[in-house]
Amino acid sequence: MVERLTETVVPVGRRSILALKEWTPSEIRGILTTAAWMKANPKVAHVRYALAGKSVGMIFELPSTRTRVSFQVAIQSLGASPVILDWGESQLGRGEPIADTARVMSRYVDGIVIRCRSHQTVQEFARWASVPIFNALTDQAHPFQALADALTLWERQKRLSGLKFAYLGDGSNNMALSYLTIGAKLGMQVTIATAKGYWPAAEVIDWAREEALVTGGSITITDDPEQAVFGVDAVATDVFVSMGEPGDPAVKQRDLMPYQVNGKLMALSKPEAVFLHCLPAHRGEEVTDEVIEGPHSAVWDQAENRLYVQKAALLQTLGD
Ligand code: CP
Ligand code: NVA
Repeated sequence: MVERLTETVVPVGRRSILALKEWTPSEIRGILTTAAWMKANPKVAHVRYALAGKSVGMIFELPSTRTRVSFQVAIQSLGASPVILDWGESQLGRGEPIADTARVMSRYVDGIVIRCRSHQTVQEFARWASVPIFNALTDQAHPFQALADALTLWERQKRLSGLKFAYLGDGSNNMALSYLTIGAKLGMQVTIATAKGYWPAAEVIDWAREEALVTGGSITITDDPEQAVFGVDAVATDVFVSMGEPGDPAVKQRDLMPYQVNGKLMALSKPEAVFLHCLPAHRGEEVTDEVIEGPHSAVWDQAENRLYVQKAALLQTLGD
């Protein structure tokens, strides 16, 4: 049986999406419901013109392929215009304060998509902007990727509540933290397997456990990769070294190699288990070619679903 994502889609109004921690389970389920509906009904006319006449700024401090293209297409497919700004080519790159940029941009556009190194930067934007801010990745959160991954899991496994989900790799990066958050919000049984020294911060684990108590989920942190994947419905990983990260990448790669998702490890999960990777992937490091190209892999669906969750979020927060 397919789990109903939500009974009703709650109106959210003009609102930023910085991290899913700030969203309730029913609001998150509302975005997923809308996204699934939009995916199934791509040609509905009122959706094609839902944001007609609006503009959405897009600012990138870090490289991107999927986020940049999928947001641009999502904005255009709702009838709005994307206004793309490269950080280094704008006055931000020459040190203009975020507070000034946010206030000026808010006079021109109806919402701003931002990818930047530090989560504090996106929070600062949201503090000063008078239009919704959409976090397109920071060091602490990648909310639209987490939403796309949840939609992919729901499509493939027909449920989210109680789903056994294991993430292997860097336990303190944006994807690990986003999986902890969305897993806790949606009642999933989340296990993070990583080496000592790469665990999520204690306060994040405590927050996720409290949230999971309410939703019926669970949060486990372990250094044992085999125990983590045994009998699970989904296995996810991400690059061992994230964009713009300080420190010696060789040390981190060595420390995290035992958490590589390979065929032997994947075979310990359920036969119908799904493999997720937000991409870009480093084959031979966090995942082997046989897994990412193999029958468990849902990575292309994941990438596609970015489009629908972003369309849904833009519609719900910027639509009239
Ligand atoms: N997954 C993801 O955010 O990819 P990009 O860095 O290409 O945007
Ligand atoms: N953790 C990765 C995710 C890329 C989409 C990074 O921040 O580089």
